[in-house]
Amino acid sequence: MTDPAHPPAPALAADQLVHGFGGPPVLKGVTLAVAAGEVLAVTGPSGSGKSTLLHLLGGLDVPQEGGVWWAGERVDTLDTQARAVRRAGRVGLVFQHHYLLEDLTVLQNVLIPAQLSGRSDPDRARALLARVGLAGREAALPGVLSGGERQRVAVARALSARPAVILADEPTGSLDRANADTVAALLLALAREEGAGVVMVTHDDRLSAQADRTLHLLDGQITENLSLPPALGV
Ligand SMILES: Nc1ncnc2c1ncn2[C@@H]1O[C@H](COP(=O)(O)OP(=O)(O)OP(=O)(O)O)[C@@H](O)[C@H]1O
Ligand SMILES: [Mg+2]
Repeated sequence: MTDPAHPPAPALAADQLVHGFGGPPVLKGVTLAVAAGEVLAVTGPSGSGKSTLLHLLGGLDVPQEGGVWWAGERVDTLDTQARAVRRAGRVGLVFQHHYLLEDLTVLQNVLIPAQLSGRSDPDRARALLARVGLAGREAALPGVLSGGERQRVAVARALSARPAVILADEPTGSLDRANADTVAALLLALAREEGAGVVMVTHDDRLSAQADRTLHLLDGQITENLSLPPALGV
């Protein structure tokens, strides 16, 4: 049972993130937290800083001001190597360009985060591949897969090390509608089954409608809308 005096740390938290690239800051003090099992959608115009925010949340870049915590541990102050090891075990990434390693098989790609975090589990990797409809393709090289299949490998890989949170940057942006729906449904179903939090950048209203909360990024700051329950959605 959860001790009310010590609530569990959020799967991911960011406090007052400020970040830019030489000009005026792109992010001007963004604060958010994602609980285990919670799905957060991030929307906003092109150039508003959604990808910048996800890179900071995933520790691929460090903020100029503010902090980032994964499962209660501050990570923006760690060196790159230490952050990469923590990331492998705690954060799954599904980006639009899936960055599969082309010389490794599908199964080997899925195993990477688990291996980096010392939890290599080929049986789990195979089960995840089956779950995303790729049973029998374990030994294939990514080059022979379709875009939708590659993105499904990326979903399985993101879950391989049982991360507390999955960060998805327009995970379906490069896919046609049927494939996009399949990948999005798999990502959300698997995250919910595993109790992982999700932060998902999307331009797709149907996808953000499935989130528990939606953050809108504008002028470097966020406003938050609680999504209507699906039954009340318009
Ligand atoms: N590495 C970088 N170097 C310089 N400027 C950058 C860099 N990354 C992002 N920017 C700038 O920061 C701003 C926010 O970019 P970002 O990619 O975060 O936007 P976005 O909301 O993800 O847009 P989109 O919806 O088009 O993907 C843009 O003006 C962009 O040009
Ligand atoms: Mg972007």
